[in-house]
This record gives sequence, structure tokens and C-alpha cells, in this order.
Amino acid sequence: NKRTKIKDLLVQEPTGQEVTVMGWVRSFRNNQFMAVNDGSTNNNVQVVLELGKLDDETLKRITSSASVKVTGKAIASLGKGQKMDLVADTLEILGDSDPMKYPLQLKNKPTLEYLREIAHLRFRTNTFGAVFRVRHALAFAIHKFFNDKGFVYLHTPIITASDAEGAGEMFRVSTLPLDNPPKNDDGSINFREDFFGKTTNLTVSGQLEGELGATAFGEIYTFGPTFRAENSNTARHLAEFWMIEPEVAFNDLEDNANLAEEFIKYLIRYAMENNRDDLDFLAQRLAEEEKQLPQDKRSEMGLIEKLEFVMNNDFERVTYTEAIDILLQSPAYKKKKFAYEVKWGIDMQSEHERYLVEKHFKKPVIVTNYPAAIKAFYMRSNDDANPELGRGPTVAAMDILAPGIGEIVGGSQREERYDRLLERMSEMHIPAEELWWYLDTRRFGTVPHAGFGLGFERMVLFVTGMTNIRDVIAFPRTPGSAEF
Ligand code: 4AD
Ligand code: MG
Repeated sequence: NKRTKIKDLLVQEPTGQEVTVMGWVRSFRNNQFMAVNDGSTNNNVQVVLELGKLDDETLKRITSSASVKVTGKAIASLGKGQKMDLVADTLEILGDSDPMKYPLQLKNKPTLEYLREIAHLRFRTNTFGAVFRVRHALAFAIHKFFNDKGFVYLHTPIITASDAEGAGEMFRVSTLPLDNPPKNDDGSINFREDFFGKTTNLTVSGQLEGELGATAFGEIYTFGPTFRAENSNTARHLAEFWMIEPEVAFNDLEDNANLAEEFIKYLIRYAMENNRDDLDFLAQRLAEEEKQLPQDKRSEMGLIEKLEFVMNNDFERVTYTEAIDILLQSPAYKKKKFAYEVKWGIDMQSEHERYLVEKHFKKPVIVTNYPAAIKAFYMRSNDDANPELGRGPTVAAMDILAPGIGEIVGGSQREERYDRLLERMSEMHIPAEELWWYLDTRRFGTVPHAGFGLGFERMVLFVTGMTNIRDVIAFPRTPGSAEF
């Protein structure tokens, strides 16, 4: 079964060569012109049927999304809009598709919301074709970036007994019978009798295991699914999302920020160089979507312009303390436009982050040195408390905020000093016995090290210009959605 992919066919010179394509019908007009797509590109090949050659019965079966095999000759097109026609010698209908029942046929211009309900079929639209080809390319580029730098791809576990972020947002994993689990004397469930012998969860982050790898290989990265049982129904949160977590021995916070900035720019450049067709399509889609918005809600730049700007300009870098000062002096603050309080010590809300990125700096911003009180236990203390100014110590944390997205990266230099780490864990009520294996890295040849996590779907949102995170992952897991 030799078939030519439409993407490869359309770049050939049409000289009457015989080719076979297989795909799905997108449209059929005048009983003669059939647009066929095979998912390799958003561009369809126009198949021309010889009038009178096919019987009515067959013609009727050429419907939207019927699957077909066409063998014919590629010739220069007489029509406008395409360079090539495929004049069919033989047409075989591989699978029928009833137009009265095909969900994509039932709506004239299906909305993204409607397509989310038929997520099992939405890949067959141009928008999702483009989004998922770009997602694929970015996934490949991630491996290429780190491989070229000599990082080791470390597979960290999905099922784990530790809560890396200490935020308690974990999905429990258990093999105990739900209706009659073994009980302790006090009536609580006895997880020691579980298959795993412990309370286990789906991982929220591979970082802690990643640190074990970094303190042996020097440089590792993870790239896998992570899970958060936070019940937040927003356009930026998923219960199951993919994260890339590099971890590098001997790096400090600045090295970490440099690596993250280089990485993000590399991914954008990769997509611009390898997926320009799809990005142009998505740019067009976004421009049309934004036409529906009031003038002041529209982006200042088109998608392509934005990507070029970000890959060619330095990210802004500010400390948390500077960021709070900017917010306090902003017109938005003075006009009481923020719904949440602004003062040193707050966990910045998305309205604050978006103000900094979209209104103030108008570019990606790396915010460093956050208050220890709002960050995870593993971040390195800066030992810089300033009680006179009402400021506690900060930690060597960094978040990268992106226009239109908010937080896209979270990372830090890690606390490599054994005693300091123990101290901080006990302050945060994290039992040392549970993380004895993690603490061992600090006991045997500890080194300064740093890493970060890039939320893959947030990166795909940024590159594709899509606005809802459910539209950049094939099968979104959000509160109430787990069917397919
Ligand atoms: O800031 P987070 O929670 O950091 C960590 O998990 C660290 N262990 C990373 C590290 O230092 N190795 O998550 C990292 C990124 C966020 O910046 C965000 O882009 C994404 O992961 N993220 C989510 N994406 C989609 N849905 C969610 N519920 C997300 N939670 C975090
Ligand atoms: Mg974070």
C-alpha cells in the first residue's frame, strides 16, 4: 500500500506523475471536485473526478469525512487557489460517513466549546489539526534541545508516596477495595495493607527524583504527565498536564533563569522554522476571533509578530520586591482596579501578573526571590529577612510570566545545605523520615543546583495563540471530564 502524504505531494511539481493518496473527504462540490485531507497538513488536495465516470450510488457516498483512497495523476491545476489537481483514475471509498449523523457536519461553524464536547473528532478540523501538529513539534524540540546539550532524559515515577510541592493536591492511588477497605483501630483506612504498602499518589512533579539524577549525571530533564487535584475550573489549569523539568547541578538562580529563557526562545524558533504553515493558519484564526472582542481587549500584536518579538528580545528580570513596588505605584492600583490586595508577602494573583507582563513590561518577565512563606520547602533561603521593613526572608525562586498566559515556568535554586533544609522542612511540618532518600543528596556530596518546570500546555497555548488550555491537550482532564 504505497501512499503519498498530501504534505509531500503538494510540494512536488505536477508533471502527470501517478500517486495514491488516502484520507478523509472535507468537501465535495459539483459532483466533481473533492477536497481530501490526510492530517499531514491543513492543505487539502483537490481530487478531480471525471464527469460521468462514477455511478450515482458511489457519488452519494462521497460525503464529509468519508474515508477514501484515490489513485490518479497530479497535474497543474486549472482552477484558482491551488497549484495541483489530482485527476482520479480510481476512487475507492474505504469507509462511509452518514452526513445526517456526522457531528462535525451538524453545525455550520462549530465553536470551540462544541468541539470540546466532541473531542474525539475535533482533530479533523483545521484548527485542531494545526494545534496538535504544533504540539507534536514542540515535544520533539524539547528532546532535541536537551539532547543537544547533553542532558539525560530521566523517567521519574508516576506513582509516588511523596508530595513534591507540599501543597496536598494529590490524586490518591490505591488498590484497596473501595466498598470495604481494611481499617486501623481508629477506623481510618489502613494503607499499609495496600499493594504499595503506603499511601500513594499520582505525582505532582518529578522534581525531587530529578534532583537525584542531577546530583549524579550533572544535567537531567524530565518530560511527562503530572497531576494536580486542585478543583480550579480555569482556562489555565488541568488536573492532568505535562511538565518539562530540567535540573542542573552547579547552577545558581541566574544560570537557571538563563537556561529557561534560552529554552523558551528555542521552542518558539523551532515552531516558527518547522510549522510556519500551521502558525500562519492559527494567526489568522486568532485575528478573526479577536475581531469579536472590543478594541481594548484585542492584542497589540498578531501571533507571528508576538512570537518573533519574544524570540528576539531579552526577557525582563525583576525581583519580587521590585514587582510589588511596581504594582503599588501603578495607575491600576491607584484607581483600585485590582480585586486582590497588593502588599509585600502576597502570592501574586493572575491580575497582578498580567498587569506586570501585559501593561507594564509588555514582554515576558522573570520574577525572582519570592517570600519564603509562599514557596515550597526545597527552595534555597536568601537569609535576607528585614523585619524593619516588615519583610521575611526570601528564597531563590523564579517564575516566568508570559503575556496572555501568566505563569508559564516555576523554578528555583535548591536548598543544598543539609541543616537549613531540615530546619525548613520542620518549620513546614514535612517529616524528615518520609524524605530520607531526598535528604541523602545533601548528606553525600551535596552541590548547589537549580531547576525549573515548564508547563507544556501553557507553552503550547502561548505558541498557538489558543486561549483555553482544554484546546491544546488531546484529552483534557478537568473537573467533570474523563470520558475520552
Ligand atoms: O510552579 P509549579 O507548581 O512548580 C513545580 O512543580 C516545580 N516542581 C517545578 C520545578 O522547579 N522543577 O509548576 C510548574 C509549571 C507552572 O509554572 C505552570 O506552567 C505549570 O507547571 N502548571 C500547570 N499547568 C496546567 N495545569 C495546572 N494545574 C498546572 N499547575 C502548574
Ligand atoms: Mg508555580
